[in-house]
Amino acid sequence: MYQIIDGKKVANEIQENIRQEVNKLSQERKKIPHIAAILAGNDGASETYVNNKIKAAEKTGFQSTLIRLHEQTTEKQLIEEVEKLNQNQDIDGFIVQLPLPKHINEQKIIETIHPSKDIDGFHPINLGRMLLNLPCYVSATPYGIIELLKYYQIETTGKHCVVIGRSHIVGSPISILMAKNNPVGNATVTLCHSKTKNLKHYTLQADILICATGSPHFITAEMVKYETVVIDVGTTRIKSKESKSGHKLIGDVKFDEVAPKCSYITPVPGGVGPMTIASLLKNTLLAAKKEIYK
Ligand code: GUN
Repeated sequence: MYQIIDGKKVANEIQENIRQEVNKLSQERKKIPHIAAILAGNDGASETYVNNKIKAAEKTGFQSTLIRLHEQTTEKQLIEEVEKLNQNQDIDGFIVQLPLPKHINEQKIIETIHPSKDIDGFHPINLGRMLLNLPCYVSATPYGIIELLKYYQIETTGKHCVVIGRSHIVGSPISILMAKNNPVGNATVTLCHSKTKNLKHYTLQADILICATGSPHFITAEMVKYETVVIDVGTTRIKSKESKSGHKLIGDVKFDEVAPKCSYITPVPGGVGPMTIASLLKNTLLAAKKEIYK
């Protein structure tokens, strides 16, 4: 029988711990963590994600600031907003929600964020420091996956971890983290991507399969062996009449047919997604306490 990895429950526990720490800071009259987010344009999914991040931040007692910019905002205007946040002493950390409107160079924006406030861990300094085992902000989704494996005490040492997807946000960093000489790590990692030939050859060898492709229901039962740990990072948003919001999230994995073959599996929604938010809040707390960059 497979066990569901309940990301919502773990994320709630993390957020409750953060809330208690914020309470303590407040009682000691210390600075309350302050998170900011920039949302440029009107992508519906991004709007939902940013709202969820801000809501979670407020629930844990953080101060929050949401900066909304219109779709036609120029790269220069966005850079100015980022620089204002870099200089604002009251803001401990901030994110620029991706994707950005097509006319804006995302990498340029990411490199404008001061590394000490880059709670998404997307800046080359933070990614480089992660590679070198130096104190840094680890991007929220990979960090959340590591925390889930830790919470469920899933053995990773010596296991074969197959990652599908090589994005800068998830696939590449999680493949590095899983190979590190850390308690959750020490795996032999194979990184597969859109040009991988005979993908099934690799997925069938996976003890731990991390899917971050963004292709809904891409992973079928015939692609996984028995007792695999499946981590589904996919969150494709599709229109749905069944849900109140008018949308539902679809993972990369065909859950109903894959789950019976697994030892552990993350559902979508309620798996990795809530952990991304919890990890972002954890990074914000680290930023407020100046624990990474003194
Ligand atoms: N778009 C999709 N995931 C993320 C994330 O973790 N952070 C930001 N800033 N944008 C995203």
